[in-house]
Amino acid sequence: MSNIVIVGAQWGDEGKGKIVDYLTVEADYIVRYQGGNNAGHTVVIGDDRYILHLIPSGILHKDKICVIGNGVVIDLADLYSEIKGLESQGISVKGRLFISQYAHLIFPYHKALDKIKEERKGLEKIGTTGRGIGPAYVDKIARTGIRVGDVLDRDVFYKKLEDNLKEKNEIMSKIYGLGSFVTKDIFDEYIQIAGELKEYIADVSWILNEAIDQGKSVLFEGAQGTLLDVDHGTYPYVTSSNSTCGGACTGTGVGPTKIEKAMGVVKAYSTRVGEGPLPTEFPPEFGEKIRAKGEEFGATTGRPRRCGWLDAVVTRYAVMINGINALAVTKLDVLDELETIKICTRYECDGKILDRFPNSIDILKRCKPIYEEHPGWKTDTTGLTQYEEFPQELKNYLDRIEELLEANIELVSVGSKRDQTIRISKQCEAKC
Ligand code: IMP
Repeated sequence: MSNIVIVGAQWGDEGKGKIVDYLTVEADYIVRYQGGNNAGHTVVIGDDRYILHLIPSGILHKDKICVIGNGVVIDLADLYSEIKGLESQGISVKGRLFISQYAHLIFPYHKALDKIKEERKGLEKIGTTGRGIGPAYVDKIARTGIRVGDVLDRDVFYKKLEDNLKEKNEIMSKIYGLGSFVTKDIFDEYIQIAGELKEYIADVSWILNEAIDQGKSVLFEGAQGTLLDVDHGTYPYVTSSNSTCGGACTGTGVGPTKIEKAMGVVKAYSTRVGEGPLPTEFPPEFGEKIRAKGEEFGATTGRPRRCGWLDAVVTRYAVMINGINALAVTKLDVLDELETIKICTRYECDGKILDRFPNSIDILKRCKPIYEEHPGWKTDTTGLTQYEEFPQELKNYLDRIEELLEANIELVSVGSKRDQTIRISKQCEAKC
């Protein structure tokens, strides 16, 4: 397998974790490049269910190397408990996980600021996960952040933490009327965890580039989705990192010429957690039904996800922004019982028809979806193992997605288990 980025083509929660897990068999290295423990991947293997927030799901394959790139923001305590959790489930992590010394750290004051800022915004809130992601990236961009490598030097770390807390405590007390954080308390906790994690910290750009030069395959695992990208998403209702393909380069130090494929993961319907427009959102009762069938509750916060029809305006945009040249369509089984299935192909806004995703959140808020209707396949797909067995209505639905998105579907998923993933090779069907 070549080097490939797996990217969400909607608002996150497309089922990337499962696709990454499936493709990991063919990869040598699996890399997270952005975001933090705001993400959550659920992977089901046999009767075991694993929920991962920071560590790439490739860790569940015993012979793979996993990497957390410089573009990720790390809550050290959470990372440590994720490692311990995996070990308690019999998964050994030592020697198979490398963490960039350039990745920025999330501190308790980032989480406190995330929560209080959201509270103060009231109705204008973004609906963040409260994990301190935004404030940690603010410090990174403001060049005051503290990186993983800093914690390895007690003096450097203490000085940086002290400097940061002078400012943060003032903001906490004077602007928000909150209590202060004590340097020594945070210092002691982080130094203790850093001691445990020392052997995982590495210069991952070198590791990855050398591996690629030796012909190894790297799988870049995107978190969140295209529409949550801080530049290309539905700003300000986005996360604070580049969740699109470009983030794989800046977030690891691997250049774009070394990545051959961008696989977009598209859920057969849309979901979104948190605030912000979702043009194809279902009416409440139907939304409830799909949410229950699709188990659409956040893996990180448990929040119910808003659900809607597949939006080809959104996913076409994602194909362009990421240079997607292969698709994986997930959770088709959730639509198994439906009489008809809708796809939004265009929007209507202020009397105009829009083919392109609008470049303004205010326009997007006013957009009404224009749908085409497809007959449902009304077949239990969860036991299907090959494309040839698919009901014709399902084949037609997939063909239409390919046509609208101008990219080939290579994988489809019809359930949460590993063996409920089907590779599509229509050339074979045509030839056989
Ligand atoms: P933050 O990343 O916690 O700052 O949250 C910003 C927005 O991104 C909120 O709407 C979150 O619900 C959303 N978000 C963050 N991570 C995920 C994810 O992994 N899946 C889906 N939505 C996410």
